[in-house]
Amino acid sequence: MRNITDQKLILKGKKVLLRVDLNVPMKNGAITESSRIEKILPTIKLLMEKEAKIIILSHIGRPKGEVVEGMSLNPISRKLASLLNKEVLFYKNIITENTLSEVNKIPNGSIMMLENIRFNKGEESNDIEFSKKLSNLGDAYVNDAFSCSHRSHASVEGITKYIPSHFGLQITEEIEALKKITSEIKKPVTLIIGGSKISTKIKIIKNLIKKFNNIVIVGGMANTMLKHTGFNVGKSIYEKNYDSLVKEILDSSEEYNCSIICPEDAIVSKNINGNGKNKNISELNDDDMILDIGVKTISSIKKIINDSNTVLWNGPAGYFENPNFQNGTKQIIETISEKTLNDKIFSVAGGGETVAAINKFKKFNSFTFVSTAGGAFLEYLEGKTLPGIKALNNNV
Ligand code: 3PG
Ligand code: MG
Repeated sequence: MRNITDQKLILKGKKVLLRVDLNVPMKNGAITESSRIEKILPTIKLLMEKEAKIIILSHIGRPKGEVVEGMSLNPISRKLASLLNKEVLFYKNIITENTLSEVNKIPNGSIMMLENIRFNKGEESNDIEFSKKLSNLGDAYVNDAFSCSHRSHASVEGITKYIPSHFGLQITEEIEALKKITSEIKKPVTLIIGGSKISTKIKIIKNLIKKFNNIVIVGGMANTMLKHTGFNVGKSIYEKNYDSLVKEILDSSEEYNCSIICPEDAIVSKNINGNGKNKNISELNDDDMILDIGVKTISSIKKIINDSNTVLWNGPAGYFENPNFQNGTKQIIETISEKTLNDKIFSVAGGGETVAAINKFKKFNSFTFVSTAGGAFLEYLEGKTLPGIKALNNNV
C-alpha cells in the first residue's frame, strides 16, 4: 500500500510520521510566502479523517546538525495551526531517548510538530542509528515532501528502511504532473527555459532534447548561446568557454530533431535600471546589455506555444524585477495561461524565480501544474532518480 489514499490503509490510532517541506521564506521571524504550508493541508486533513496521530517532520534552512536560533519551526507550527484552525503541539527539543514518551501521549487525530529535523546530527548524514531512532517514533511514515526528495537524508531516505512508508497527496500530484512532461508526453511538446546561467540547466536541456520538439532558450542563458554562435552580446551576462557545449547542444538538436530557438531581438539598455530599447540581436553595440526578449521573439514564442499540446516553462525571459524588462516573462506566462484555459493543453512550470514571476502576474491557477520545488524539480527534469522517491518505491 504505497499511497495514503488507499482505503485499505488503516491508520486509526497509529502514529504517522509525516515528512513535509516547510522550508518557507522568512524575514525578521515572519513568514513571507506560505504556499508550501498551504499545499500540505489536504494530506493532514486526510490523516485527521483517518484518525491518525500526526507527527510532522520538517526543516527550515541549513543548520547542519546544530541548534540555530532563528531556524526554529515554531512560527511555522503556529501558522499551520491557524490555517487548520486546530491546535498543533510543538516539540521544541532535538530527538533524544525522551521523545518517544512525549509522542506517545498525543491523542488520536491530533498533530505534533517536531523541531527542525536538521538540528539533529544524523539527519543530513543519513545516519543509520538516527534513521532507526526516527522510525521508532511512529507506526507508519508518509513522505509528502517532493521538494526534499532529492536529498538522501534520514527523514527522507534512511527512515523508509525501518517502517512502512507511503506517498502523500502532494508528492503524488507532483510526480503525476512531471511524468506527463517526461514520459507520457502529448506532443508537440515545448520547453521554454530561461534564467541567468546555462551551466545550471545544461543537464535538463541534454535530457529533454531527446524527447521534446522545441526548446526555446531565453534569459541570460540565451546570451551564452548567442555569444558562442558568433553574435556580439555587448556587456550582457554570459558564460565563457562554452563554445563546445553550445555546439554539443546544437548537434544533438539535429540528431534528435528538436528545434532550438534563441532570441532574434532583445530589449537592451545601458544598465539594469535604465529604459529599454528593442534591437535585433545582430545590431548590438559593445555597451548594450540584453535585459529582456524583444517583440519579434515574443511573437515567435507565442506561435510555438499555440502549436504545442504540452508546455514546460522554467526560468524568466529577462530581468522582470524591473517593469521595463518584464514584458517577455509576462507574455510567456499569459500565453501559456490562455492556451491552458482555452485549449486544455498540459502546462507545467516550476523553480523559485519562475513561481515568483507567476505570482507577480497572478497566474498561479492558470497553469495545469506549478511546482514549488526547486532543486528536486530540476533534478527530476535532468532524468535523475530522486532518492526519496526510490526509497518509497523500494519500501515493502
Ligand atoms: C528546498 O527549499 O528546495 C528544499 O526545502 C530543500 O532544501 P535544501 O536545498 O536546503 O536541501
Ligand atoms: Mg534549495
